[in-house]
Amino acid sequence: MENKKIKVALLGLGTVGGGVYKLIQRRSESMIHTVGAELEVEKILVHSLHKKREGVDTDLLTTDWKSIVNDPEIQIVIEVMGGIEPAKSMIEEALGAGKHVVTANKDLMAEHGGELLDLAAAHGCDLLFEASVAGAIPIIRPLKQCLAGNEISEVMGIVNGTTNYILTKMFEENMSFEAALAKATELGYAEADPTADVEGLDAGRKVAILSSIAFHSRVQFKDVYTEGITKITAEDIAYAKEFDCVIKLLAVAHNTDKGIEVGVYPVLLGKEHPLSSVRDSFNAVFVHGDAVDDAMFYGRGAGEMPTASAVVGDVIDVARNLQFGCNGRISCTCYQDLPVKPFDEVKNKFFLRMQVKNEPGVLAKVASVFGGHKVSIRRVVQKHVQEEAAELVISTEKVKEYHIKDALRELQKMDSISEISSMIREY
Ligand code: NAP
Ligand code: HSE
Repeated sequence: MENKKIKVALLGLGTVGGGVYKLIQRRSESMIHTVGAELEVEKILVHSLHKKREGVDTDLLTTDWKSIVNDPEIQIVIEVMGGIEPAKSMIEEALGAGKHVVTANKDLMAEHGGELLDLAAAHGCDLLFEASVAGAIPIIRPLKQCLAGNEISEVMGIVNGTTNYILTKMFEENMSFEAALAKATELGYAEADPTADVEGLDAGRKVAILSSIAFHSRVQFKDVYTEGITKITAEDIAYAKEFDCVIKLLAVAHNTDKGIEVGVYPVLLGKEHPLSSVRDSFNAVFVHGDAVDDAMFYGRGAGEMPTASAVVGDVIDVARNLQFGCNGRISCTCYQDLPVKPFDEVKNKFFLRMQVKNEPGVLAKVASVFGGHKVSIRRVVQKHVQEEAAELVISTEKVKEYHIKDALRELQKMDSISEISSMIREY
């Protein structure tokens, strides 16, 4: 008897699409035993039919989307082309045609996730997007299913492989930012425009998705404060080492009584914190729930096969649902509308590095400005003292963002302060 076949179409055959294609070939036979059906790639939508694509049956390639959406035999559409359009319209058309969709597209899910999930529910379709956050790491399904019995109050993580790779290389090998970024791009970690990685936008989209799911309330990318790693210098790294810390780009979300606090920014993180040992392109997500307590999920956050792992896991889930006729079981889980706190109201500790005149009374003036803005000082280090100038490094206690910004604005106006060189949050 011939095995049952589930036909799928790929939209995109780049880094992730290439990996998904390979992994489907690899798993197809075992799926007969694990799912009871075989997966078959029926068509692959690409931009260019003339690109060299090793190991791919070129008869499957097409530039004609209609030939996919109008093919009644294709049951699952795998969107791995990226960007908002035409991906959004294609997913809408696919769902409208009753096809199930798997996507790795965080740009799209962070901005239009709610409406797309509602559309999927209206058509009784699955719309799964595990790969859109933290690459290979299972985190969306655990939050929606395994941890569903919890009230989650905190989600914190390293969710961008490119920046973690860059910071690791800068920290451990003294590599320049530019050289480390070029290597991350070569390895397939970076987005087509790496600005999204290095400016924290990619991590911002991921934490918008994660906090929406964790707190059952839609958080949009525009609500997320984002700051990237482009201003981190070798001097900052040297101080981090001296203080027994590392510098990591963290995505942080808390559900507090006064609203959701959510942001992405570089953090000086003590070496005792488990996230400090997450190196290279690895990602990790920390979750705190009222029943589970602390849980941490760790794995590769980017790259061809790790991302394909998450995409194919979703495809297999859809295939299983198809076998039992139970697609569309889990849709959008946002049932409340919590406010997002203005980031200026959020409290953090700060590491501040500034260049000052080497003259009597400067330290007292700086301390007085901080005191006037409710900033409590935790540590002061003065180094690189020359005849006329010195470098002052100050760590603060927790203080509201607007207090520290007001204090720095006042300091910048003072004759005895020539430059505020760094402002990095500490954990
Ligand atoms: P990529 O290497 O740039 O590949 C994009 C693919 O989509 C290419 O094959 C391209 O066709 C095709 N494509 C783009 N626009 C198209 C259009 N309008 N019509 C037809 N085909 C089109 O991108 P990627 O790195 O694989 O990323 C894909 C998605 O996965 C993105 O949403 C990304 O954010 C997400 N993601 C990536 C990673 C990662 O590590 N790279 C990890 C997690 C999630 P041609 O080949 O003909 O140019
Ligand atoms: N550019 C992303 C990263 C890919 O570096 O993590 C995974 O979303």
